[in-house]
Amino acid sequence: MAGPVLLNVPTIEDSRGELGIVDTGFLPFAIARIYYLFDVSTQSTRGGHAHKTLTQFLVAVSGSFSVELSDGLGNDFAFSLRSPREGLLLPPGFWRQLSDFSSGSVCLVMASQPYNPEDYIREFGQFAAWKQRR
Ligand code: TYD
Repeated sequence: MAGPVLLNVPTIEDSRGELGIVDTGFLPFAIARIYYLFDVSTQSTRGGHAHKTLTQFLVAVSGSFSVELSDGLGNDFAFSLRSPREGLLLPPGFWRQLSDFSSGSVCLVMASQPYNPEDYIREFGQFAAWKQRR
């Protein structure tokens, strides 16, 4: 899989509102787990880790937040998620930090695997060393 990328989520709009659809085959992985961040303080920073094998798709289903990524090899990426009509496809091997949560925002995450603490790298130096060994 290539690097992190924003994908437009197909939506259907009518007079009642709008409906976003993440159907089978839209993502390049099968969804094994869904979780969501809510009631996040506007001062809070989430993330602060990398995943060895997990792929995720993040959507600001309400409000907005920022995602800062590092590949551990000197390349940084920044995204601002502010619409339920798009999401960030986040491959494994990226350090991530989520911040600038707007009040009442919700970050919905679709993930390729069940929760596994062994998949996390929680120290940036270890992450960078792990990337350089690959
Ligand atoms: P963490 O992944 O550190 O949250 P974030 O990246 O949003 O800052 O998870 C916070 C806590 O929740 C941590 O103790 C692990 C636990 N957790 C689960 O038990 N299951 C899950 O699916 C997730 C995502 C986290």
